[in-house]
Amino acid sequence: MLSKSINEDNIESLVRSFYRQVLQDTLLAPFFIEKLGDNLQNEKWEEHLQLLTEFWKFVALGYEEYKGNPLQPHLHIQGLSREAFSQWLKLFHQTVDQTYIPSAGKYFKQKSTNIAENFMRKLNL
Ligand code: HEM
Repeated sequence: MLSKSINEDNIESLVRSFYRQVLQDTLLAPFFIEKLGDNLQNEKWEEHLQLLTEFWKFVALGYEEYKGNPLQPHLHIQGLSREAFSQWLKLFHQTVDQTYIPSAGKYFKQKSTNIAENFMRKLNL
């Protein structure tokens, strides 16, 4: 069932379902496997999933647990490209459509597009 509004539980499902799909994607998976391995159940992945859940709760709900620097790890990833970012956005938007009704999903699509554009600008991509 699609969610009608954004809350803690559906943000967690969005994040978990997104990275499940990332690991199936031939373009994106290698970037993540290099840092975190290929098993979503391992400790590093669990930390990443929790961090990204906190990140989106911070962005969408104003929660304050997330204290990271979102751009930082991307500065050290070799081989990032505009194409990789487009694919990231395509997959993220698909996952949003599988999670929310359009009026709720619109928010995540806009935010993720803006953040990705910022990242690309700062990474000179
Ligand atoms: C091709 C595009 C992208 C790739 C390959 C990518 C990959 C990664 C990797 C490998 C990490 C670090 C994992 C670790 O070492 O713990 C990471 C962290 C992160 N990513 Fe991305 N990412 C991409 C785009 C994005 C976008 C568009 C966003 C936001 C809309 C995003 C948000 C984050 C955040 C919040 C973190 C954690 C930052 C922290 O340490 O606090 N990423 N990403």
